[in-house]
Parts: sequence; C-alpha cells; structure tokens
Amino acid sequence: MAGTGSSSSGDVPLRVDTTVPHSARVWNYLLGGKDNYDVDRDAAERFRAMFPGIVNIAKADRAFLGRAVRYLTGEAGIRQFLDIGTGLPTMDNTHEVAQREAPESRIVYVDNDPLVLVHARALLNSSAEGACDYIEADLRDPASILERAGATLDLDRPVAIMLLGILHFVHDMDEATGIIARLLEAVPPGSHLVITHSTLDFDQGRTAQAEAQDDWNAKSANPMVPRSRADVLRFFDGLELVEPGLVSMTRWRPGETPWGEPEEVAGYCGVARKP
Ligand SMILES: C[S@@+](CC[C@H](N)C(=O)[O-])C[C@H]1O[C@@H](n2cnc3c(N)ncnc32)[C@H](O)[C@@H]1O
Repeated sequence: MAGTGSSSSGDVPLRVDTTVPHSARVWNYLLGGKDNYDVDRDAAERFRAMFPGIVNIAKADRAFLGRAVRYLTGEAGIRQFLDIGTGLPTMDNTHEVAQREAPESRIVYVDNDPLVLVHARALLNSSAEGACDYIEADLRDPASILERAGATLDLDRPVAIMLLGILHFVHDMDEATGIIARLLEAVPPGSHLVITHSTLDFDQGRTAQAEAQDDWNAKSANPMVPRSRADVLRFFDGLELVEPGLVSMTRWRPGETPWGEPEEVAGYCGVARKP
C-alpha cells in the first residue's frame, strides 16, 4: 500500500506504507538519514521527546556493528556475513567495514521492509574480490533465508550471523530461540552469532524509556519487546561468548580513551562463537 509523504527517493514506491511509522525508516532518521517519511520523523521525534537516550542507542548500535565486524574479519578470521534486519543503507554498512579489512568478504543482507529493497543498490557495491547480495525475506522464515543465502555464501564454511536490532520484533521467546537454532544449525563450528537487543534494564525505575516504548508499540508497524539480560543471554545458549560477554553496546571493546569507559546505553550486545 502506498501512502503520502516525502523521502529523498522522491516518489513513494509501491508497497511502501507511509501511514504508520516503520522501524527501518525511523532508525534511518535517528542516524541522520533522509530515507524516511513524515510519519517516521514524527514518531522518532515523539520517542526522542519522551526518551532522549534513543539517539545514543541508535549511534551506539551502529558503532558496535563496526567494531564487531572488524573483530570478526580480524581476530576471528570470518569472511562470510549474513546480516538479517539490515536496515536502510547508512554509513559503514557491514560489507563496507568487512571488505575494508578483508576485500574477499562475502555478505548477504536480508530485510523485510520494501523501502530497504528500493535502496538496496547501495548495499550491493561489493569489492571486486568479494560479493554482496540482498534478499527480501522475513526472519521468521529462516529456511528460505538459508536457501537463498546459499547462492552467495558457502554454508560449509564459517559465517557470522548478524541479528542487530531485530530480535526484539519477534515477541515470542520460543520462536526467537527456534529461529536462532535453525540458523546456527546450518553453519559449521567457527561461525559466530552477533546480537544487539533493546532492554529496559537500564531504565532504573525512571520509566521514561518504558513509556516511550509503549507509545511506539501502540502506533508503529513494528512493535518491540525489550528483554532482560537473562533473556538475551539465552539467545547465546550453547555458544562461547567472546570477551567482554553480554554488555551495553558502548562497552563492547570500545578502545582506549583518556576519559575511561564510555557511558552505558540501554541496549545489549554480544558476539559468540559456535564451538
Ligand atoms: C532497528 S533496525 C536495525 C538496522 C540495523 N541492523 C542496525 O542495527 O543498525 C531493524 C530492521 O529490522 C527489520 N526487520 C524487522 N522485523 C523483521 C523481520 N521479521 N524480518 C526481516 N527484517 C525485519 C526492519 O525492517 C529494520 O530494517
């Protein structure tokens, strides 16, 4: 269904619903992008007015992506990435970080938002030595994702499965763990799982974040379920969590600064290896 509004892409493409805010477009706005509509900008500003910390969460998530992918291409020696819930292209997309470190890296992006498909060209500018593909698919259908990803990735060799900012859209815990199990089953030991996930654990009774979250859930196309540390840890069951384990997104291998550790943001992240 097409609606009205304006984004940098001009005409509203068919199938893009501009009557309700979508997470990919709101995230794009929070990161300073232009691929969003009035309804997304209004929702983002409303969220920000209620909980200003949301902007730092979006930036911390993106910065973590860069550090995690550099770790994976470097220390972990990974050359294949399956990035599900890619979002709209922005700075330092997975293939750009990975291929800067290891040009032969192969990346498959997956998202179910039709606007991400419209902008997918920016995700396909692979290095000559590597490869990139984009699949429009739903995380809830891992079998289809794996089958199609197999055209670009060699699933007999280690793959980093990236689930950044997406598992909180799968509300049922058993469904979420089942999806992760199915994805990990298909890849060999030495593969990695990378997760970022929203949480209210840092809200410390202030409730501003919880209220903003409820407000978003009542109005958006993608209601979310923030999870506790214990629940997010369950996603890594059976895997070896890489140091420093499951931490706030700013605290995962942040690098030295003269000011000590960065402040925590209200989002967890972790990287783990399949033994
Ligand atoms: C908050 S954005 C995160 C973008 C990026 N991974 C990052 O961390 O910067 C969430 C993305 O997940 C996508 N998404 C949500 N539910 C999905 C599903 N069931 N299947 C595929 N993609 C989904 C949305 O369209 C959106 O692009």
